[in-house]
Amino acid sequence: NRQKNIRNFSIIAHIDHGKSTLADRILETTRSLPEREMKNQMLDAMDLERERGITIKLNSVHLKYTHTDGEEYTFHLIDTPGHVDFSYEVSRSLAACEGALLVVDASQGIEAQTLANVYLAVDNDLEIIPVINKVDLPGAEPERIKKEIEDVIGIDASDAVYASAKSGLGTDEILSQVIDKIPAPGGNRENPLQALVFDSMYDTYRGVISYIRVVEGSIRPGDKIKMMQTEKEFEVAEVGVFTPKPVASKELTVGDVGFLIANIKNVSDSKVGDTITHVKHPAPEPLPGYKTMNPMVFCGMHPVDASDYSALRDALERLELNDSSLQFEAESSQALGFGFRCGFLGLLHMEIIQERIEREYGISLITTAPSVIYHVYLTDGELIEIDNPSNMPDQQKVELVEEPFVKAAVMVPNDFVGAVMELCQKKRGEFTDMRYLDENRVNIVYYLPLTEIVYDFFDQLKSSTKGYASFEYEFTGYRESNLVKMDILLNGEPVDALSVIVHRDMAFERGKTIVEKLKDLIPRQQFEVPVQAAIGNNIIARSTIKAMRKNVLSKCYGGDVTRKRKLLEKQKEGKRRMKNVGKVEVPQEAFMSVLRMD
Ligand code: GTP
Repeated sequence: NRQKNIRNFSIIAHIDHGKSTLADRILETTRSLPEREMKNQMLDAMDLERERGITIKLNSVHLKYTHTDGEEYTFHLIDTPGHVDFSYEVSRSLAACEGALLVVDASQGIEAQTLANVYLAVDNDLEIIPVINKVDLPGAEPERIKKEIEDVIGIDASDAVYASAKSGLGTDEILSQVIDKIPAPGGNRENPLQALVFDSMYDTYRGVISYIRVVEGSIRPGDKIKMMQTEKEFEVAEVGVFTPKPVASKELTVGDVGFLIANIKNVSDSKVGDTITHVKHPAPEPLPGYKTMNPMVFCGMHPVDASDYSALRDALERLELNDSSLQFEAESSQALGFGFRCGFLGLLHMEIIQERIEREYGISLITTAPSVIYHVYLTDGELIEIDNPSNMPDQQKVELVEEPFVKAAVMVPNDFVGAVMELCQKKRGEFTDMRYLDENRVNIVYYLPLTEIVYDFFDQLKSSTKGYASFEYEFTGYRESNLVKMDILLNGEPVDALSVIVHRDMAFERGKTIVEKLKDLIPRQQFEVPVQAAIGNNIIARSTIKAMRKNVLSKCYGGDVTRKRKLLEKQKEGKRRMKNVGKVEVPQEAFMSVLRMD
């Protein structure tokens, strides 16, 4: 009977449209927190997330709400991450719900990423409740947005709630629609256990905490359980719910969303998307749709100070406990010394990990330009996978090279269609589709090489559309391309960490840009340093870093001691991020410069 009063839902919104603020209002309305404890944006747990204003890890909150009819309801509000790198996690968290609030900013309208998530929700048969937020803003056009929701998504938006998460307007209406429109969970508590793992995190004291949705059956402490994909077995130590404080409970039963602790040592043993069942009376099959997440983007991470190597390994091991999609293995580079080759789901994931290592572990890093995985077919028939351009075999041994492609959707106002198409064309894109969403917004679809996105696509898209474009992509497969390895030589010596794989037609232009950039980025040395780009033995571009003429201090004619000291300190600061490559001092920026083409 309790089951019919459960409602499981999540909030789908584009970054900044007000998801966290609305979640806070819902928490307040259901009085889940004494006001004192109420911190802004409860659902975003980590500092870094708060600072960047993005949600990385999903969370779920258990709420009690008494409806106007006097009945008490249990809500589980499941938070979804907002960025494309995490779209698989989004789909798993949606699979834990029967409904979703679609929050759209009343002055902005729907964005490409939101659309992708709404389609995921529609595919999961979720009931969607449109919420038009920020109606208090002067630029709000709720009627227009309502029509846009109907035109673009094709759902009925006539009951859309006009809300202001800031003032609390509309919150009660939202909760009552949640009760009336979102169905209670199905399933039967007498069936064999099937629980979906939709997130898991590592806690220093408790080990892995898995976030689960019980789809069939029930689970309690002492139960022997099995992960159906990894086939690992554990004994349940504790189950419970977040209110948002963790509170242990006797059991979780069909329809419930909560946490599970079972003495699991590593998040890779409790993978997002896996199904938990009992060792005795197991479910005949796992829940549908489990997918292993493979990293798509790789880079080298090397400590600036070689003595930080083992600290860096510790940091990566720690982070891996919490993040089963992070991969790393030791590598050594002639230029950068010992470090790690690391794999990430996407660029944002990479930036977040780099930032956490520097900030939380205090290690200064030199990172190489990110690379994708290339499939290289050798003349002897062997297929090798290359995630580090410097490992590319000699041209004579290579039969053909394939690179990963993505299907990318860009959503822009009418005026920028030309600019977007020009950019996609320049990035070796293949046009597929273009559709008007309303009078002035267009969705443009291209097939693009992933590597072009890893380069400066985001930045160029932003600048060529004045920031109005939103963008989303998914991996579609490998295609043959005419790719070659380009080496960069400093002082006549190839620098492995600067090698890139480029399309042959673009090699000349890219080589020229890179050597010019390096000339500006690498400080003058005591001697003249030639910078060259080469394909095999052919030098295709060259520039020269002139020899240093003056000592820095000669600039501060005479007496001012503090100024002198400042200058020296500044120089030292600059040095911290330098690596000696042969006899040349190379700053961090140089290793990323192979990315930027502007
Ligand atoms: P992510 O966590 O990054 O996905 O963003 P979010 O969607 O959770 O947005 P958030 O709740 O952080 O809100 C973004 C900004 O909009 C904040 O500065 C809020 O204060 C503001 N905001 C949210 N709702 C409203 C509203 O109804 N009216 C107005 N005027 N501002 C709002």
